[in-house]
Amino acid sequence: MTPSLTIRFDPVAADRALRADARAGLSATPKTLPPVWFYDDLGSELFDQITRLEEYYPTRAERLLLETHARELVAACGATTLIELGAGTCTKTTVLLDAMAALGQLERYVAVDVAESTIVDATTALALRYPGAAIDAVVADFTDLDGLFPDVDHRLIAFLGGTVGNFDPAGRARFFTDLDAQLTTTDALLLGTDLVKDRTRLVAAYDDAQGVTAAFNRNVLAVLNRELGASFDPSAFTHVALFDEEHQWIEMRLRAERAMDVRVEALELDLHFEAGEELRTEISAKFTADGLAAELSKLGWLVDRQLDQPGGDFLLTLAHPYC
Ligand code: SAH
Ligand code: AVI
Repeated sequence: MTPSLTIRFDPVAADRALRADARAGLSATPKTLPPVWFYDDLGSELFDQITRLEEYYPTRAERLLLETHARELVAACGATTLIELGAGTCTKTTVLLDAMAALGQLERYVAVDVAESTIVDATTALALRYPGAAIDAVVADFTDLDGLFPDVDHRLIAFLGGTVGNFDPAGRARFFTDLDAQLTTTDALLLGTDLVKDRTRLVAAYDDAQGVTAAFNRNVLAVLNRELGASFDPSAFTHVALFDEEHQWIEMRLRAERAMDVRVEALELDLHFEAGEELRTEISAKFTADGLAAELSKLGWLVDRQLDQPGGDFLLTLAHPYC
């Protein structure tokens, strides 16, 4: 059978979104940037390296959970279409797709991600691996779900890796509400979330000894330099990772090591950083099984399964809307 691959991408919308985010975030006090802009080609490659670091346990833990439970999960929801948000290199996706194929349930896979070449490469390989299925790569922002999903029954939305933790609480509530508006009772959500744990391990996962996470963090400044003609000197910023106990999230920041002025040419924006001033680049919320189940129940969803392993590093939750 001929592999079927469809690619959708709107570069004008992506450029507009970057400008809006950079203007709003860099003009705010304190300065912030949303994490979506980490993921140019280099950022995606650095994230891929992060997933293999000794300190970064979430990817290994989630893969193990998927390998153990994929069949049970896809059988329980009966999905024939898998839609993955923030799919990236789709490395763990094959575990789900293999399970769907083995159960004769695999009709279509849709990978949604802003990282164009990463999902095009990944889905090209998947189209060869699953020639009987339709494979789509949609280069889009998962905060805008309108028109993103194919209009069929029995869809499984996979949101893996703990990426839902990169929303702030208001953004997460908005995302769940928007998702609820798109789904019907035949659909399901498979959510991977990192769990609250010892802060030393948490911080180490975001401040590795080799400095890969630091390079990933600083790369967002290189993205602004290239895409918006900004004049950041990334080497003048120090990577900071801390655990905020009150909010139960990791924060990544970039600390200006000296006072400096930065011009963002495409926005005609002049910025000033004080020495020691920090730009927040990411939060990564950590969850408890009960807390997450309560958030989903508030939407009127049923939580079908919550799976973790002894030691409880990571959690997979299968849930669906029931009315
Ligand atoms: N799911 C993969 C990758 C996680 S990294 C895993 O579990 O390993 C987060 C992924 O989400 C990246 O590929 C990044 O490009 C994508 N991403 C981040 N914010 C996004 C957004 N707003 N819309 C679409 N994709 C986004
Ligand atoms: C994609 N996301 C879930 C990662 C995380 O752990 O929050 C991004 C990341 N940031 C630093 N390391 C990994």
